[in-house]
Amino acid sequence: MNPIQLFDPASSTYTYLLFDATTRDALIIDPVDEQLERDLRVLREYGLKLLWAVETHAHADHITSAGLLAEHAGARTAAPAGCGILTAAVQLQHGDTLKFGSQQIRALHTPGHTAGSMSYTWETDGQRHVFTGDTLLIHGCGRTDFQSGSAEALYRSLTEVLFALPDDTLVWPGHDYQGRSHSTIGAEKAGNPRVAGKTLAEFQAIMDSLHLPKPRRIDEAVPANLQSGLRHDADGAALMAVRPAEGYAGNVSPQLAWQWVQAGDAVLVDVRSDAEREWVGFVPGALGLAWKQWPGMVPNADFDAGLTAAVPAGKKALMLCRSGARSIAAARRATELGLEAYNILEGFEGDPDEHAHRGRKGGWRFHGLPWRQG
Ligand SMILES: [Fe+2]
Repeated sequence: MNPIQLFDPASSTYTYLLFDATTRDALIIDPVDEQLERDLRVLREYGLKLLWAVETHAHADHITSAGLLAEHAGARTAAPAGCGILTAAVQLQHGDTLKFGSQQIRALHTPGHTAGSMSYTWETDGQRHVFTGDTLLIHGCGRTDFQSGSAEALYRSLTEVLFALPDDTLVWPGHDYQGRSHSTIGAEKAGNPRVAGKTLAEFQAIMDSLHLPKPRRIDEAVPANLQSGLRHDADGAALMAVRPAEGYAGNVSPQLAWQWVQAGDAVLVDVRSDAEREWVGFVPGALGLAWKQWPGMVPNADFDAGLTAAVPAGKKALMLCRSGARSIAAARRATELGLEAYNILEGFEGDPDEHAHRGRKGGWRFHGLPWRQG
């Protein structure tokens, strides 16, 4: 079985949909935001449940729909750890696997187009496939002149990592500008004009002489893709800035909160009730400390002691609730207790939409940040 190959004509980007024919669990590689409706339709037509939305790198020529697929189709997001896509739920290391039903892909670190770029191998029905992103294209390769690119690293990724795969491995590239769909490792090893039979110095000279124009959408696409493609705040700088507040250190976006947690600068305190977390979902690694508890939503008498015990000196305390109201009260209390406390805007579920449904207008989950059920 081959992957379903989908094409975005505006950016000549290939998106790949892989699935387990029995369980219908699916994984998508390099989805494009303008094609969200098409991709959701294909998932419906094939009766697939999307488990993963995966990037090969932070793209400069289109914006990913990974964050939107997390919200609309329930997928989890995964990206190469070296790409700085901090909103991805899983930060992939070389050799990591992602499973969907009985199937899995394996990450190969193939730096050069960007420092974090990865390719993914998939073996199914006795056939090996590799999804190469912009590392290896059909009779070409990705450029190396921006975004932490390196011709030397790309040469090694092509000749030592990808060309070490068996010759009959099918190559599925991230782009093609001439209507070709796929190639093989053997064909590229023998005939890729950039790299076949070339020394490192010859390859570097070819890459140096390309003088390609800057990608049309780079200034817009790269910052958006570092947030899994979510552009709810038109001003990315404002998204990652602390906003003033009264009675505590400030209001922060879920994205900034997660960046602080990942950097080890902060403790995330989930102040929803135990029952809410159980029903709706947990944030991995967060301290579960209710501000009010069922039954009756009475104040939690253990809040102060639990908080001061869990937040070490010098770390920020980040308060998360359902939609950002209880977390303000909790941040004020934490400030009274001597902590540097912040309220996470929008909460876990965000505000209700016009149909009173939560989770569609913002919030931790909506932004594709990590969470798990039960
Ligand atoms: Fe790229």
